[in-house]
Amino acid sequence: MATGRSSSNSMALALLVLAASAASLLPAASLSVTSPYVRPAPRPDALSLLQDDDDDDDGQTPQQVHISVVGPDKMRVTWITDDDAPAIVEYGTTSGQYPLSATGNTTTYSYVLYKSGNIHDAVIGPLKPNTTYYYRCSSNPKREFSFRTPPATLPFKFVIVGDFGQTGWTESTLKHIAAADYDMLLLPGDLSYADFIQPRWDSYGRLVDPLASARPWMVTEGNHEIEKLPLVETEPFKAYNARWRMPYDAGASPSGDNLYYSFDVAGGAVHVIMLGSYTDYDTGSAQHSWLRRDLAAVDRGRTAFVVALVHAPWYNSNRAHQGEGDAMRDAMEALLYGVRVDAVFAGHVHAYERFARVYAGKEDPCGPVYVTIGDGGNREGLADKYIDPQPAISAFREASFGHGRLEVVNATHALWTWHRNDDDEAVVADQVWITSLAASPACHRSKSKM
Ligand SMILES: [Fe+2]
Repeated sequence: MATGRSSSNSMALALLVLAASAASLLPAASLSVTSPYVRPAPRPDALSLLQDDDDDDDGQTPQQVHISVVGPDKMRVTWITDDDAPAIVEYGTTSGQYPLSATGNTTTYSYVLYKSGNIHDAVIGPLKPNTTYYYRCSSNPKREFSFRTPPATLPFKFVIVGDFGQTGWTESTLKHIAAADYDMLLLPGDLSYADFIQPRWDSYGRLVDPLASARPWMVTEGNHEIEKLPLVETEPFKAYNARWRMPYDAGASPSGDNLYYSFDVAGGAVHVIMLGSYTDYDTGSAQHSWLRRDLAAVDRGRTAFVVALVHAPWYNSNRAHQGEGDAMRDAMEALLYGVRVDAVFAGHVHAYERFARVYAGKEDPCGPVYVTIGDGGNREGLADKYIDPQPAISAFREASFGHGRLEVVNATHALWTWHRNDDDEAVVADQVWITSLAASPACHRSKSKM
């Protein structure tokens, strides 16, 4: 299957693809595995994340910097200053030289007695692909940042992990991600676990800043982002929407809502759909109508892989959060199946689980591979109680912290690996080749039949 359109830049990858083609690409249901791995006792939580360690003695030093893609060649830079500062990003391709600049917007929010710092964002570009840019924020010379733009062609490397939090386990996960060579991080919800205590959003922003200022972090919301308080704070997602603005108003099918959106990478070879588990999703809702429009515009002759992210898993054999994704699955599963979405990644359950290709509860060669990757390291601990016996559609499950990597190698093959946080090592504990359903004659559908 990996002929014709395969990437020409790596003989090693080609050999791997050929090896994968020779083997079964997804394990048969009879190979369901519940990992026997016994997790070592947790280490003491050594982080003092609520300390104000931002070294912002002048109130103007940019902190909590993160970037996110906007369309094919632009980047949004988001940062916070304690005091007033200009919403300007200056940038260029040489360290210390910033010939280009863009000015954006500043916002703040209040939450009970908390008042946020100045939250700035500016969109820079057009940018060249696969290029390192150096930048500074608010014209402040104290911190220079740099990022690498994603490539405009395959291969393309994602890191995917949900339910991060800010514990010692999170720190371990971040360390392993930092050691990876990747182009973009996808986060299916539950970021800071601030849980109403707003300074935790700031400590989380500082914790992820070294990584999130260097690669685009694309996120969607989890239940821990809602933060409604009866009578006092009635607007959901107040902090999340103010701090983690995503490109919902950009691209081919803007959604108009920060809680769900989509974008393309690798020159349109991969379409990524970020769904919202905690806003309306039923038929007739704004999200459902947008998803129909978004999927109708996907041309599988051009788009090699389509992946979707959602917080509450649609398939789950862990006892935690059983059934919480069922209503959304009932509303949207057929839409994803119609366009032959290749994989769906979820969080919420604090463990790892990979399913076979599934549709309507049964193994289906034209359904998505479902993965639960809610194992970033949150403070609520692991979900280690599973339904027994393991359902036939569940291929591998393990209650450990870790992260996933999806390397879309070429137009037909993507390699999924799960990296367990085995204390100091990121151990590959599960991997599978995923073939594009667009390249599968048995699953091909003309647009008119969708
Ligand atoms: Fe959650």
